[in-house]
Amino acid sequence: MTGRRRFLLGLGALAGVGAGASQAQSGYDRQILAADTDAAIENASLREWAAAKGLVYGAATQEYMLSSNPQFASSFVRECAMLVPEDELKWKSLRPSPNRFDFTRSDRLAQFAKTHNLLFRGHTLLWHARLPSWFKSTVNHRNARQIMLEHITKVAGHYAGQMHSWDVVNEAVFPEDGRSDSLRITPWLRFLGSDYLDIAFRAAFAADPQALLVYNDYGMEYDTPKDEAKRTAVLKLLERLRSQGTPVQALGIQAHLWGGETRFNPSQLRAFLKDVASLGLKILITELDVTDKHLPSDIHLRDRLVAGVYQDYLSVVLDEPAVIAVITWGLSDRYTWLSQKQARRDGGAVRPLPLDANMRRKEAWKAIARAFKQATPL
Ligand code: XIL
Repeated sequence: MTGRRRFLLGLGALAGVGAGASQAQSGYDRQILAADTDAAIENASLREWAAAKGLVYGAATQEYMLSSNPQFASSFVRECAMLVPEDELKWKSLRPSPNRFDFTRSDRLAQFAKTHNLLFRGHTLLWHARLPSWFKSTVNHRNARQIMLEHITKVAGHYAGQMHSWDVVNEAVFPEDGRSDSLRITPWLRFLGSDYLDIAFRAAFAADPQALLVYNDYGMEYDTPKDEAKRTAVLKLLERLRSQGTPVQALGIQAHLWGGETRFNPSQLRAFLKDVASLGLKILITELDVTDKHLPSDIHLRDRLVAGVYQDYLSVVLDEPAVIAVITWGLSDRYTWLSQKQARRDGGAVRPLPLDANMRRKEAWKAIARAFKQATPL
């Protein structure tokens, strides 16, 4: 029986996390026992395991994390082949006022990437969130197009030739807003209409024709009506953009996953990835992490359940040849947005990422390394 099949059987046992902790434990233990024979897994880093299969592993981080914590910085360089600024390339960080661009912190990250031979990736040229305080009172129907084009041209132009890829547009699909095209009602849509995505991608392509241009979004992971509606709407948007020649070249799947969520359907996800690939698009997993707020407080068990979610998800997505990169939204539990966003009721520190707060490799790290090791080479 294949490792993955045995694992999924084990996962079945995970179903009633709350009710069947011991059941869950046994399921994952079987998996661990098998893995432990592979002690060599720790002889290489995540970037090396990924590279061995033609894949890229990277993580999001912030400038202060690298400049203030040398141990973190060295762990980052050891494990990652790609760096994504977590906040420094968003409008709120780059645009202190309508006529000013401040690249100070993003340039430091670009320099760190260059110094340590890391790929650099941009997030994000256009989003409805993290907009500067002046935006609401300044941007309107008359000037929105000019302000958007100036921003994309200036920012993508500033890093032209240095970027592996850009999230040109982030989170533009939101079926809950009730539109027939399932687009989210954002300031960009209100001021420019549904063509704003095409305008943005063409401007990014003109400013940096070398970067892989990505449409990035969340909520496409689970076997739920909400995620199914999102997958259908995102696919429809990508088909429309491709059919009108918009230079969108890849889909970014954020993959903010949930520990304890059992509505995961591998064949459904495989089919979606295949549909995206059939449009000639590449796929990047762009913001992978596992929220553990619903998992038991026992750290040993919680870490193994979180690792199971990584293994389960990656064992599906890495089978799709169009998937070229896996990026976690952070590297160490010391620095994760989930500490605020998805804090645990028991007040315990969250543990969603590959390294613990002291930069030690966790079960999650082993699960990601093993998934790369088992992946089909590109
Ligand atoms: C988050 C950052 O991690 C936080 O530091 C910030 O306060 C808010 O944004 N989807 C995205 C990311 O595309 O940019 C978000 O990052 C997380 C959700």
